[in-house]
Amino acid sequence: MKAPEIRVKGLCKSFGDNKVLKDLEITLEAGKVNFIIGRSGGGKSVLLKHLTGLLTPDSGEVWYGDREFFRAGKREKENLRKSVGLLFQDGALFDSLSAGENVIFPLWYHRAMPEDKAKERALSLLKDLGMEGAYDHRVEDLSGGEKKRVAIARALVMEPGVLFFDEPTTGLDPILSTQVDALILEARERTGATVAVVSHDIAAALSISDRIHLLHEGRVLLSGTAFDFKKSDLPEVKAFLTGDEPEGP
Ligand SMILES: Nc1ncnc2c1ncn2[C@@H]1O[C@H](COP(=O)(O)OP(=O)(O)OP(=O)(O)O)[C@@H](O)[C@H]1O
Ligand SMILES: [Mg+2]
Repeated sequence: MKAPEIRVKGLCKSFGDNKVLKDLEITLEAGKVNFIIGRSGGGKSVLLKHLTGLLTPDSGEVWYGDREFFRAGKREKENLRKSVGLLFQDGALFDSLSAGENVIFPLWYHRAMPEDKAKERALSLLKDLGMEGAYDHRVEDLSGGEKKRVAIARALVMEPGVLFFDEPTTGLDPILSTQVDALILEARERTGATVAVVSHDIAAALSISDRIHLLHEGRVLLSGTAFDFKKSDLPEVKAFLTGDEPEGP
């Protein structure tokens, strides 16, 4: 199950009185680039955290192919986790490690390859991201955009079958954003991975996605291709594409 379809069924999650996910259903197609868009605070990051078991649902299921994540045993969960590369919205780098050590960390943690090979791969990924020379730099000395790129390299380093990116281009300049978009597509081409990208970049969603999913009030309001979104008459979809407030009734 290298690049599984990921299917979420009836996912509910509240924090106190705040009902964030309300019976949410979503299917991330195998080997495709799925964009997840929606208003700030709408639950996109909370959804990604459920997909990786960082949050436990109040109710609902997360299926990787024919395996349900929350019912899986400890070892199976570990294997599923190993097959997922995750970019956190805030990067979540280890400040005590260098940039390169951060990239290598998953390889080391999963004892995936010898150290010299691991370093070679980390260096090559950093180079792809225009960060050659940063291997030994301290994380705290990096700019926001550089940190983001180190975190992206770390998500890619295991060549996982599933890639989750929470706002990979937020805070990057337009040229870097385009490079990161290209890198996401290239990683998908190379590994055939199932990809989910949470993004506020509608232009990117419309140009590089296979499918877009609009999260609205705790559910997926529309799943479809860029074409489906452009021709949709739903006011919430139109508002999203134009950046305007939806019109009242
Ligand atoms: N651990 C938590 N405890 C309590 N509330 C939380 C927790 N995590 C998220 N929330 C709340 O859940 C809601 C959804 O948050 P989430 O981070 O998923 O939004 P988002 O769609 O990713 O927004 P953004 O586009 O700004 O990143 C917010 O109201 C947030 O305050
Ligand atoms: Mg978020």
